[in-house]
Amino acid sequence: MPTFSRTAFDVPGSGIRRIHEIALRMPGVLALAVGEPDQPVAPHVLEAASRAWLADDTAYTANAGIAPLREAIAAKLRRVNGIPVDADNVWVTPGATEALFLALSLVLEPGDEVLVPDPGYTTFTMAPRMLSAVPVPYRLDPDRGFLPDVAALDAQVTSRTRAIIVNSPSNPLGVVFPEPVLRQLLAFASRHDLWLISDEVYEAFAWAVPHVSPAAFDEEDRVLTVHSFSKTYALTGARVGSLVVPLGLDQVLRTYQEAIVSCVNTPAQHAALAAISGPQDAVAAAGEHYRGNLTAAAALLDGLGIRYLEPGGAFYLWIDVSHASGGDVAHWAEQFLLEQRVSVAPGSAFGAAGEGWIRVCAAASRETLLAGLARLPRPDGPEPAVAAALTAGA
Ligand SMILES: Cc1ncc(COP(=O)(O)O)c(C=O)c1O
Repeated sequence: MPTFSRTAFDVPGSGIRRIHEIALRMPGVLALAVGEPDQPVAPHVLEAASRAWLADDTAYTANAGIAPLREAIAAKLRRVNGIPVDADNVWVTPGATEALFLALSLVLEPGDEVLVPDPGYTTFTMAPRMLSAVPVPYRLDPDRGFLPDVAALDAQVTSRTRAIIVNSPSNPLGVVFPEPVLRQLLAFASRHDLWLISDEVYEAFAWAVPHVSPAAFDEEDRVLTVHSFSKTYALTGARVGSLVVPLGLDQVLRTYQEAIVSCVNTPAQHAALAAISGPQDAVAAAGEHYRGNLTAAAALLDGLGIRYLEPGGAFYLWIDVSHASGGDVAHWAEQFLLEQRVSVAPGSAFGAAGEGWIRVCAAASRETLLAGLARLPRPDGPEPAVAAALTAGA
């Protein structure tokens, strides 16, 4: 057999998928590992997609997406995000995943460095590796409220650094960066002449502080903004997202899009158009559901004496299990799944800074979420199984 590409085999795998796949083979698991909304898709969105299928609207579209969708996204970017763009700045992509890949492809040469949050979403590390570039983790530490330390970032910049990825609201932390922090990050990017790639896929779910798009105050065209329909509209499998870029990149983006996917699935683009231009009640209801779940989960964890980060956005809980994980939370999460039948994402899947933590997805039914959390080991108490037996025997 001829040799395979070293680059392909250098891309790190996802520690979340591993847990998820074990869980899929086990009956009766309380599934809290994967970031999948549990909310229904709004009927008008499903109808728009069905209409497109039934009308045989299945041909290739323009590489950048159908014009009404690009226009609707641009209108929303102006109205909601305060980003002064028009349709020509917007590329419709198969999810934020490809938008991130396109953004990184536009700015990275092999060997270049990109600063990525640690803990941070797994793809931030995988995608640069696929481009033979180097993801350099920047720490988000508990003693700073999981906000970036800009002085430390300054010290991490080298002659190869080309970009920084910023993700607020954050997966896995659920932290929302306040506007002054985002302004500091933009000033940092400007000081070192870096691109700032802003992943805002959880923008619809921010409570601690309002969600702010750094592109709204970018006067130097250095922010590339990534959005998605996946989380906001519970459309993960439809695969629609968007990338906002400066003007003048049509030729290169058209070529990349052509070579990777040509265009996004046409009925899915119609679903996205209905989602973004129709009523937003389902988004508000989903937000209420996630927020209610996070509040109930926090109260339960308080009662159990388990440390966690107060969730400010997205639909995740970042929980400290270092009292039980013995320095290897990936192994611990697997054992926890096998013994307690609860799947959670090990924090180390999101970077070295995640060791000793887990991410729990609160986009689940309240019962599943609370039942899963109740099985977590307490810092100073008996294991939950033992506790349950004691209670039952009492
Ligand atoms: C921070 C972040 N960015 C991007 C994505 C990818 O989203 P999409 O389904 O739009 O590709 C996810 C999915 O979990 C995410 O959490």
